[in-house]
Amino acid sequence: MNKIKRAIKKKRIIKEIDNIKPMSKTYMTIAKLLDNPLISSEELETELRYDPLATAAILKIANAPYYCGTAGRIKTLQMALTHIGNKQLKDIAVMKMSESHLKDEKGYSERENELYDESIASAVFARLIAQKVSENQNLAFECALLHDIGKIVLGRMLNEEGDEIAKSLAENYISFDKIESEQFGITHAELGAMLLERWNFPEEFVKTAGLHHTPSVEPDNKLLQTVSLADFIVTLSGLSTATDGLYYNADEEVIKRLRLSDIEVTKIIEQGSEDFFELKRGL
Ligand SMILES: [Fe+2]
Ligand SMILES: [Fe+2]
Repeated sequence: MNKIKRAIKKKRIIKEIDNIKPMSKTYMTIAKLLDNPLISSEELETELRYDPLATAAILKIANAPYYCGTAGRIKTLQMALTHIGNKQLKDIAVMKMSESHLKDEKGYSERENELYDESIASAVFARLIAQKVSENQNLAFECALLHDIGKIVLGRMLNEEGDEIAKSLAENYISFDKIESEQFGITHAELGAMLLERWNFPEEFVKTAGLHHTPSVEPDNKLLQTVSLADFIVTLSGLSTATDGLYYNADEEVIKRLRLSDIEVTKIIEQGSEDFFELKRGL
């Protein structure tokens, strides 16, 4: 494709970012409040008073077996803070915050909710990997959850470009991010970083989204290696059936960089698959 055409398309795609609705303010504020380990349930309730459905939504996920096993039901925010803690509740707020974006937009998927499922699965695997390599588990969960958010922008272009992309995939074995650069002049990773920056997410989120398919760029960035491996596992485990699915050159070095053994990775895959279904039961 000629350079001028691609540059015009890229401009149009970046402009499309303006048409993406902002993330939910209520959940964004709640997530910020939950950064404080001393947050009280009264403070949360004050923030949630205009959005009674939000409290119910948070408590519903807090009752997933993933968070509270088969133990008693969590009925109030106070109970949630005591039993689950502010960090896990923040993960839930970030899940709710991004839910409609990941659900309503198809990304590259055919199946309904696939982008959402893949994002949740990546988050669950990232948490397990982070635990194993002593990285911040909650940050890994949240960054992994949002790593592919850029697909919601490019997914909107697939109607127009779908045939050409499918042709490219069939004819040349090149990675999907190369096809994105070729067709759109920009990748979903770059667009994800742009979106998260626009929504004022911390730098770790922006960086992880931007570099998740090129983790070798920052080999010492443990969080980035963690999210990249989680993404790779989701693809391998067959949870992803999206158009781009297996068309990435996975950087298997992430396993070495994280100093994980094959046995440890296998255990993470087994545990993560169980965790994913336990979390899904609460969504
Ligand atoms: Fe990706
Ligand atoms: Fe991904």
